[in-house]
Amino acid sequence: MAVNRPGHVDQYAVFGHPVGHSKSPQIHRAFAAATAQQLSYQAIQAPVDGFAAAVADFRLAGGVGCNVTVPFKADAYELADQLDEEAQLAGAVNTLQWDSAGKLLGFNTDGKGLLRDLQHNLGIDLADRKILLVGAGGAAAGVIHPLLQALPAKLVVINRTASRAEALVQRFSSVADGRFSSATMASPGKGFDLVLNATSASLSGELPDLPAQLFSADSWAYDLAYADQPTPFLRWAQQQGVAQRRDGLGMLVEQAAEAFHLWRGVRPETAAVISQLR
Ligand code: ATR
Repeated sequence: MAVNRPGHVDQYAVFGHPVGHSKSPQIHRAFAAATAQQLSYQAIQAPVDGFAAAVADFRLAGGVGCNVTVPFKADAYELADQLDEEAQLAGAVNTLQWDSAGKLLGFNTDGKGLLRDLQHNLGIDLADRKILLVGAGGAAAGVIHPLLQALPAKLVVINRTASRAEALVQRFSSVADGRFSSATMASPGKGFDLVLNATSASLSGELPDLPAQLFSADSWAYDLAYADQPTPFLRWAQQQGVAQRRDGLGMLVEQAAEAFHLWRGVRPETAAVISQLR
């Protein structure tokens, strides 16, 4: 773990493509200021086929840790010398750090960040609840294990390409305890307490083709993506009469706080940063 030394500034970065829109530099600089940590944090756009080389350059220039966003989370998983359990299960890494021996450690803090936003910030009790997860790509894979650890009654995954949802259920069978299943997009079941959109549809302004009656009277709709305007999924949920709706901005800040904690040994307060970004 990095420590504050007089006159020394540890270097961090987020790697993505594109990365200009990333809020991570703003978030981590706010965390550093609030916790009196001396660090710099920049956004680096690596070529789509040049992630490993870009990370190596960053290391040579003095980098000590980094975040990883679309489309490099699977590359980071391949690159890491050692993985934490979440990264191992998700097949994706969003946080990297070199240890004192120069070994590259890979973590996935996305799921923890989502759970922190749901449980702590929004006050949603997930125990014995029915949760629907829409999407079966990397974003979905990253949140399954932490969701299961919250002990819902059941977690159902659906996906436009059904075989990918089935493959996720197979992949997580060892930690799922029979509570994780797949269903078809057309008939996933009814009365879910929480519907999570983990598809990338929001990023292209699209709406997954979801049936009505997914929600119960007291449901939450949560989009892992965030945008300045309500996403198509959240607008659709509103039309379905869902009063409790949230995008993934809180998750973004919370996964960043988890990464900051791994790097710096101090967990920053997040509420002020979330409201500042909103
Ligand atoms: P990510 O790492 O962001 O999850 P990904 O692995 O490419 O990216 O997965 C994207 C997910 O969004 C997939 O579940 C994809 O469905 P398919 O597996 O059928 O491709 C889903 N997705 C993207 N656009 C969608 C749309 N318009 N409607 C429904 N699902 C969509």
